[in-house]
Amino acid sequence: MIRTVVTADYEALSAAAADAIAATVERTPDALLLLATGDTPMGAYRVLAERRARGALDTSRLRVAQLDEYAGLAHGDRRSLYGWMERSFLEPLSIAAAGTIRLDASLPPAVACQAYDAAVAAAGGFELAILGLGPNGHLGFNEPPVARDAPTRLVPLTPESIVSNARYWGDEDDVPREALTCGMASMLAARQILLVVSGPHKREILSRTLDEAPSAEVPASWLQDAPGDVVVLADRDARPATP
Ligand code: GLP
Repeated sequence: MIRTVVTADYEALSAAAADAIAATVERTPDALLLLATGDTPMGAYRVLAERRARGALDTSRLRVAQLDEYAGLAHGDRRSLYGWMERSFLEPLSIAAAGTIRLDASLPPAVACQAYDAAVAAAGGFELAILGLGPNGHLGFNEPPVARDAPTRLVPLTPESIVSNARYWGDEDDVPREALTCGMASMLAARQILLVVSGPHKREILSRTLDEAPSAEVPASWLQDAPGDVVVLADRDARPATP
């Protein structure tokens, strides 16, 4: 069952997401978080960093796994999603890189995915998955169509994802054509899932995610089938009131 919470705007969305994440960290200080990059969760990560800086949140035992990574990048490439996670979460929240589980794009993809899944299993699975919604309904880089039990793997990016990711790096030509992604099966097995969605451009895909029957065409719609506690946090622009 999905619980949907609608906030007035992006600021309120970020505060509510930060509250939800902080509640998990307080309850389970050594929780393993599955952590999205992308623009939407950045406000929440900033709120969490401020709380930690003023001593209101202890993240010293927290563990983090990255959600997705472009394929074929060398360590230190400016487009690395691990690098983005470092700048936006690991460093501001002072989380040791040694404890993080990464999708290592410098390894052969099958090796990287196997190492990732083994590390996630050894850590006891995800306590909380923090996810964003792609313009085509993707979660991580689980591009449509995708099976509910899709494994962690290498995927070609759809033209839609290449266009939407261009805003992060400058130009479509700067966006790698393939990525490693945590599979649907692992992320749906998280004990809690928080999907954050903001803006009018996400309105239609969010409606397909929540209001239509689950299908491979809208990867995020598989959240309706997830066994854990699923919360969708959307701002009013993304989820207008029904008349
Ligand atoms: C990107 C990433 C996802 C992200 C999603 C939404 O392509 N692969 O991990 O959650 O799309 O991004 P944004 O929050 O910037 O809209």
